[in-house]
This record gives sequence, C-alpha cells and structure tokens, in this order.
Amino acid sequence: MERTLVLLKPDALQRHLVGPILSRFEQKGLKLAGLKMRSFPLETIQRHYSDHADKPFYGNLVSFMTSGPVVAMAFDGKDAIKVVRTLVGATNAREAAPGTIRGDYGMSFSNNMVHASDGPEAAEKELGLFFAEAGDLIDWEPIDLGWTYNVEEELS
Ligand code: CMP
Repeated sequence: MERTLVLLKPDALQRHLVGPILSRFEQKGLKLAGLKMRSFPLETIQRHYSDHADKPFYGNLVSFMTSGPVVAMAFDGKDAIKVVRTLVGATNAREAAPGTIRGDYGMSFSNNMVHASDGPEAAEKELGLFFAEAGDLIDWEPIDLGWTYNVEEELS
C-alpha cells in the first residue's frame, strides 16, 4: 500500500468543488487517511513548492496558494501515487482529458484545483509538511477492503 498527498487549492474551495473532487478519490476506492483545512503558512507553501523556486511562475504560485484556505488530504491504496495522478489529469486543465478532475472542472494552467504528489520521494516530503502533527494521519481498515481488492492476488 502507498500513501500520497492531495491538496485542494484555493480555487477548488472558491468554486465549491471540494465535495465533488473528494468524491472522485473516495469512489475510486482510495482510502482517506488524513484531512485538514487550513490557511497554511507561507513557509509551508514555499517548502512544498521549493523544486519550482527558480521557475517564472513560482511567485504567482505561492501567492495563489496562500490566497485562501487549502484542503490537504492523504490517500492510501495500491499504487496510490500513480492512481491519484491519473485521476487528477494533466497540469494544464485546458488540455486535461475529459473524465479527469482537471479535465472535467477546469480551464486554467495555474488555477488547476488540485495538487498531487508526483512520486514516492515527493509524497514522503509533502505528507511530512502538511501532516506533521501527531494524530494527523489515521491507519484504519475499511470493511470493504476485501471487495475493493482481490485478497489473494493483491492483499497478501
Ligand atoms: P501542481 O501540480 O500543484 O505543481 C506545480 C504547479 O505550478 C502546477 O500544479 C500549476 O498550478 C502551477 N503552474 C503554473 N504555471 C505552470 C507552468 N507553466 N508549468 C507547470 N506548472 C505551472
């Protein structure tokens, strides 16, 4: 099982899309392991996007991400990082495939509603940033786990 970080950006909240977007992940079969709504400190956002610090869009990205509340979520599942990235779709929402979250709800490159970790290293770093306090992340077992996956083939 893998764990990954998803952020619902300020545009998702302003556009009342938190419920519809969260539903996509839940209905896919991913397990919610953490959920937090905050106006995250500037430093957290800067550290989160530190890989983009030299990019021309970095300044706008940081001010956008601190312009309002963000919902941080952790999801568990087999290959969760890749599964979530596929559900989210291409970074430029105008080019994202229909059926993906960005493809269905967005028109912008910058205001693209969702961030999702792009690999195991990023997931570890990002989960540590947004879910740093004790009790932030919860290990629990949904009763339908044995129906979501094939127990013999995938859970043993
Ligand atoms: P995200 O998946 O959160 O990762 C970096 C973010 O930078 C990206 O989504 C976009 O919101 C934002 N961004 C803005 N302009 C660009 C760009 N030209 N290339 C990549 N990301 C961009």
